Formats: sequence, structure tokens, C-alpha cells
Amino acid sequence: HVENKEELKKAAALASVKYIRDGMTLGLGTGSTAYYLIQEVGAMVRAGRTLQAAVTSEATEKLAVSLGIPIIRPEAGIKVDLAIDGVDEIDDSFCAVKGGGGALLREKVVARRAEQVIWIMDESKLVKRLGTFPFPAEVLPFGSAWAAEAVKGLGGTAACRQRDGRPFVTDNGNWILDISFSEIIDFLTAAKAVRGIPGVLETGLFDKFCDRIIVGTKEGVRERRN
Ligand code: A5P
Repeated sequence: HVENKEELKKAAALASVKYIRDGMTLGLGTGSTAYYLIQEVGAMVRAGRTLQAAVTSEATEKLAVSLGIPIIRPEAGIKVDLAIDGVDEIDDSFCAVKGGGGALLREKVVARRAEQVIWIMDESKLVKRLGTFPFPAEVLPFGSAWAAEAVKGLGGTAACRQRDGRPFVTDNGNWILDISFSEIIDFLTAAKAVRGIPGVLETGLFDKFCDRIIVGTKEGVRERRN
């Protein structure tokens, strides 16, 4: 029996690498679960496996480079064979909220172009109903207070994510609104409507992205295909 959450994340990450084939271009996610994956991919590269990766954040890039993983620039349009990433919460229909780490925009760009997407997590990420985790949206700083007001119009509240008393700045130079909707509002509809607010660049709603989830549970690692 594995009790520790970090052990569960690590077990899920390690179970995902069996889907990695030589010559693949990987999409490497961001966050504390992806951390264990990136460490393992680094070990695979050092063991002589031919792999390269598109990274979803500056933090992941730094880690990947330090481990000797060859990095490709998504700007070159190279196909990503397999993207592996974490999630903040996910429901039974594989619809997820991501962006707790603020990397949602690049994560979505990479995931959308990936041939296959696998999400790795510990069991605490599985929810009956999305929306308990504040739903993040990346916004242009310009006019972001207006975007927050527009969220109110959709029945939600939006707080500009802070770090050290200032707005948290994403890798793309933007800010994050953390949005909550009351339980009486249909989360999916409202979350999709947020995407239409001028100045909102992307949201953390990842609907119909993932092919497989790998979950670390106290009873062992479980996998489910979408
Ligand atoms: C980063 O912006 C997020 O989308 C992460 O993928 C998500 O927050 C999962 O992170 P953890 O693995 O640290 O929980």
C-alpha cells in the first residue's frame, strides 16, 4: 500500500513511460507530477534512447535541459507524437481543469497538436463534478479588470492570481484569473463562455483532449482509455 501522495504521482508518471517509443517527439507537461516523468525521460535519454521534446513551460524547459533532453521549438511545426501532462481535476468523461501552475496556454497548444495525450495523476484529482478547483484563464493584462467584470456577468467571480503581492506573470507575459462559479451554474457552459471574453487568451478547460489517464491509487496504478 502506497499512502504518500508524492509516491502516487511518481507511480503514475513511471507507468506512463511504457508508451514512449524510440524516435518520438514528446510533449512534456508542467507541474509536480510531470516532474517525475521528466526525470524518467532524462534517464531514458542518458541510457541512449532517441527522444526529443516540446516543453510546455520555462520551468519544464529548464528541468529538461538540465537532464540533457533534446528540446524542439514548437514554432518549427514538428509533430508531437505523445504529450504527457498532469491535471488539477478531471471528471468521469475525461474533461479536465488545468493551469494550477499557470502553464495552461502552452499546455493546450502542445496537447492540441499531439497525436496522443496521456494525463498522469494521483487519485485526488478525480472528481464527480468539475469546478471545485478554481478555474484558471490566461488574460492579457491590458483590460483584465474588464475581463473579470465580464466573468461576473456569467455568474462567476474572478481573482487575479497574485505572487508576492503582485499579479502572477505567465511565461507568455500575461496574467491569470482564477474563476469560481456557484454550484447552480452549469460549469461547462460557463467555462466555455469565458473563452469568448475579449482579452481572455485561453482557459484551463481541457475538454476532449486526452486519450488515456494513468492514476496512482493506494491500491496500485489504474489506467483508463477514453
Ligand atoms: C500547470 O499549469 C498545470 O496545468 C499542471 O499540469 C497541473 O496543475 C497539475 O500539476 P500537479 O501535477 O503539480 O498537480
